[in-house]
Amino acid sequence: MKPVLLVEASPRFGTSRSRMAAEKIIGRLADVRPGLDVLRRDLVAEPLMPLDEAFTEAIYLAPPALSAAEREALAQSERLIEELEQSGTLIISTPMHNFTVPAVLKAWIDQVLRLNRTFRSTPSGKVGLLADRPTYVVVSTGGAISGERARQPDFLTPYLDAILRTLGIHTIRFLHLEAMPRGSDWPDEAERQVQAWLDIHLPARTLLPAS
Ligand SMILES: Cc1cc2nc3c(=O)[nH]c(=O)nc-3n(C[C@H](O)[C@H](O)[C@H](O)COP(=O)(O)O)c2cc1C
Repeated sequence: MKPVLLVEASPRFGTSRSRMAAEKIIGRLADVRPGLDVLRRDLVAEPLMPLDEAFTEAIYLAPPALSAAEREALAQSERLIEELEQSGTLIISTPMHNFTVPAVLKAWIDQVLRLNRTFRSTPSGKVGLLADRPTYVVVSTGGAISGERARQPDFLTPYLDAILRTLGIHTIRFLHLEAMPRGSDWPDEAERQVQAWLDIHLPARTLLPAS
């Protein structure tokens, strides 16, 4: 069975709402699939190198034409794309920062969304080259982003949705944890929302219909 790739973007660790919720998704996946292997890509614990000039030149070259230096310029991107290729399920856990994704997650996107590597440009638009796979995106916000209480735009959800589809990933489920209070405790409301979401999107073994 292919591993789950967990991509994490919160600068908070022990108290992060998005990280905690992602662990609960992994717990439920492990319950349904014993022996589950998880590949972790922590974008805060291990920051990515920023894009440089060599990278922005190399991405337009066809692989046979690449020099050793150009290959090196693409090495980080290759590693991150290979993690996506090796995995069968993707989980992204992220807070909202200023209405969109944190900079560390944008940096990952800039490395994995690559012309003629993970998508092709066609007359009718960009076409993803990665295999579709179940993808769960946990988004934690300090304020409301949906319903009557929302007083801010949500650029994060449509943006990540478009990025994933451009990669070729279409089986996407978002878990929004909105208006999360700060503090060290895991809020009861977060637990209620996560469990309700899990029971709909990833029913525990006992909830699955007998096959
Ligand atoms: C730099 C920064 C920007 C933020 N921008 C927003 C925002 O635009 N909208 C919002 O609702 N919350 C915003 N927040 C609050 C976080 O999204 C919220 O605290 C979230 O629950 C954090 O998730 P985490 O616990 O996984 O880190 C921001 C927090 C920080 C640190």
